[in-house]
Amino acid sequence: MDTEQPAARPANPRFSSGPCAKNPTYTLDKLADAPLGRSHRAAVGKAKLLAAIEETRDLLGVPADYRIGIVPASDTGAVEMALWSMLGARGVEMLVWESFGAGWATDVTKQLKLDNVQVKTADYGQLPDLASVDFNNDVVFTWNGTTSGVRVPNGDWIAADRAGLTICDATSAAFAQDLPWDKLDVTTFSWQKVLGGEAAHGMLILSPRAVERLESYTPAWPLPKIFRMTKGGKLIEGIFKGETINTPSMLAVEDYLAALDWARSVGGLKGLIARADANAGAVFDFCEAHDWIANLAGDPATRSNTSVCLKFTDARIKDGAAFAKAVAKRLEAEGVAYDVGAYRDAPAGLRIWCGGTVETADVEALLPWLDWAFNAEIAAQ
Ligand SMILES: Cc1ncc(COP(=O)(O)O)c(C=O)c1O
Repeated sequence: MDTEQPAARPANPRFSSGPCAKNPTYTLDKLADAPLGRSHRAAVGKAKLLAAIEETRDLLGVPADYRIGIVPASDTGAVEMALWSMLGARGVEMLVWESFGAGWATDVTKQLKLDNVQVKTADYGQLPDLASVDFNNDVVFTWNGTTSGVRVPNGDWIAADRAGLTICDATSAAFAQDLPWDKLDVTTFSWQKVLGGEAAHGMLILSPRAVERLESYTPAWPLPKIFRMTKGGKLIEGIFKGETINTPSMLAVEDYLAALDWARSVGGLKGLIARADANAGAVFDFCEAHDWIANLAGDPATRSNTSVCLKFTDARIKDGAAFAKAVAKRLEAEGVAYDVGAYRDAPAGLRIWCGGTVETADVEALLPWLDWAFNAEIAAQ
């Protein structure tokens, strides 16, 4: 068995699925213009926050009549603001195929305790039956399941004339996959994912119909200040112009602005999608060429181009979980791949982040090391 080490190592071994790698041109002096020690409500702070919103709109092609807000508590904060503020007005369908979607279903069934809820679940690697969704209900789903590497292939399954709202956690899809804004009423993501920004702040994007829900429906439960988007039955418009609910980190804002700058330099959304596709494509090709490893996503149309999840399929493996952990440990110890173990609730395997901040040359340099670590671990079992 060949356990000789490959000659080359990735220049950057950061393949974590969040926080994700900084972009290849990143240096801390890109943050030199951060208005540190100034109020976020001073003109300079407000201008930065508004720029973060409007540049997001521009890069992602978000329609002019959609609101974009910077909210507390990263993607989780943005999703929970939407769930707590909007649900309960009509029936709800929760689409679940990995642990983050499962977490949102727990919020709705066990914390909000809504009774008119259907949870449609699929195993890791699959999608629930999207054709069965009734869009008279509000529908909550994750565009790209970060922990299973399964994404919805597109938005064709979402009714254009829906009566309910679609609430989409797109944190590992935004800036790597096309999001059809006309099909999405609430969309959330965090800076720490595809753009390799900092955590702590979430982005909440609302369609006009989502705003209408906020202005016409008051939930039966109390809402903490951190979730409140209306006052006297009207949307607090300031939130969507950079007047954040509470104090943001202006250092994190500057970091996000630098990430957006870099995104433009590689061709904007199109360029970012192409980079993620090239990275993921290299991993897909590797799986095709080796019979001991496979994509966890069953249907090729649903394979993520960001959080690529892999399973080991070799019959010689005795303890799948221990084997996968040991492979990830070898890769980390060699300094060729950090944080590539499967998510704690997911099936045993590896997860290699392929979003646009990762260089294809680094993915290509990593792949021979997978071969090496696999064979070394088979030999060591
Ligand atoms: C699909 C999905 N939803 C939510 C989260 C939580 O994101 P955050 O920690 O930024 O709130 C993650 C993080 O990995 C995720 O992948």
